[in-house]
Amino acid sequence: MKPYTRVFQGTAFTSQSPKEIQILKDHLFCINEDGMIEKMIAPEDKGYQALLDAYQGTENFQRLDEGQYLLPGFIDLHVHAPQWAQAGTALDIPLYEWLNTYTFPIESKFSDLDFAKNVYEDVVSALLANGTTTALYFATVHKEASLLLAEICAEKGQRGLVGKVVMDNPDQTPEYYRDADTVSALADTEEFILAVRELTKRTKQGVYPVVTPRFIPSCTDDTLKGLGELAAKYDTYVQSHCSESDWEHGYVQDRFHKNDAFALNDFGLLREKSVMAHCNFLNDDDAGLFAETGTAVCHCPISNAYFANSVIPIARFHSKGVEIGLGSDISGGFSPGLFDNVRQAVMSSRMLEDGVDTTLSAEERGVPNSRITINEAFYLATAGGGESLSLPIGRIAEKYVWDVQLIDTTLETAKLPIYDANEDLNDIFQKIMYLVRPENIREVWVQGEQVHSRKDR
Ligand code: GUN
Ligand code: FE
Repeated sequence: MKPYTRVFQGTAFTSQSPKEIQILKDHLFCINEDGMIEKMIAPEDKGYQALLDAYQGTENFQRLDEGQYLLPGFIDLHVHAPQWAQAGTALDIPLYEWLNTYTFPIESKFSDLDFAKNVYEDVVSALLANGTTTALYFATVHKEASLLLAEICAEKGQRGLVGKVVMDNPDQTPEYYRDADTVSALADTEEFILAVRELTKRTKQGVYPVVTPRFIPSCTDDTLKGLGELAAKYDTYVQSHCSESDWEHGYVQDRFHKNDAFALNDFGLLREKSVMAHCNFLNDDDAGLFAETGTAVCHCPISNAYFANSVIPIARFHSKGVEIGLGSDISGGFSPGLFDNVRQAVMSSRMLEDGVDTTLSAEERGVPNSRITINEAFYLATAGGGESLSLPIGRIAEKYVWDVQLIDTTLETAKLPIYDANEDLNDIFQKIMYLVRPENIREVWVQGEQVHSRKDR
């Protein structure tokens, strides 16, 4: 038998099911040369001591310190990489105005490859430092800069799924920032797909091309149709925005007399490998279509507070069998971290359940059964994201990749309030989910390779 490339000893948290976490206490995690978890051994299992004896003290062995824990790396299913340049600003106007006033102007600057390189290197590093090991990115309309983002992911070791954004509808996009026409939009997308498929051969973790119509308003019918055909031809991922806000949802109803979900499906854009951001206004039929086609919802709870005019009924969609993951939606969402989004997902769901208008009685104020727990929000950020992408990621389990974040709860500058050496690990998990800051994320690994570490205390 081949020796393991690395063996870790420590306690890890992972999802057992959408509602339950599994605590892997003092396990040995054995990583092979492909960066996969080949074997996990519990202290009571046969072979634990023998394996420990064989690896302890070697350079391939790492024992977690007291107060350190492993979590799966986060999977951010919706990031606009260029919008990192305006993160935290411009959150004061509705979606349509926001796109035209702030966002299209900043994205148009990515025709400049030097500017693009600066921003893209920073955003990929920032996401890794926040524990995000896989990210599904929107780039911009520019083919070269979009490829540069994929190259930066490849180089920094992040599993990046990257889309050249397509937007060619002259009615809904400014002249200075759009694809010239359907033919060039499709040709650029196809060239981009082929280039990323070449690039991925040089990576261990994989980078993937994504067919990316920005959203229905910004695309012509011919282009939407052509993109659906390209997704089928190359069996690629697809991403877009779907039924996000009152304005956007209404625009699609006016244009197609149906909701986004059915319109996107008519163009071949709802597929097993499709991820649709937001989806706040899906009705039961739309949700059924998502479940049937294997399309995943990306829940963007922080962004939704600014732009979605609503709180998404995430618990209802989950109960209908729709795959759901979590997204930061930089910069509709200001935070580069999924910890913040996990927290917001729980808080928003509680506000939906209880309601917010105190002029109404408690009985009529909220939407019953809408809350999700911290365990469920953690599932969305990890295993749910993995299921959405149909990749062996998001869980600490055999035959999954070693994509993890190592959390230190004892840091002087960001110490978690843990005072009992025997505190219940379920409580420690909850403290981690609610209180961790980027400083606590000491190491990040993707496909068995360390891609981020912090030495400061
Ligand atoms: N709809 C179309 N483009 C965007 C975008 O960049 N952000 C958000 N939140 N919604 C969009
Ligand atoms: Fe978005």
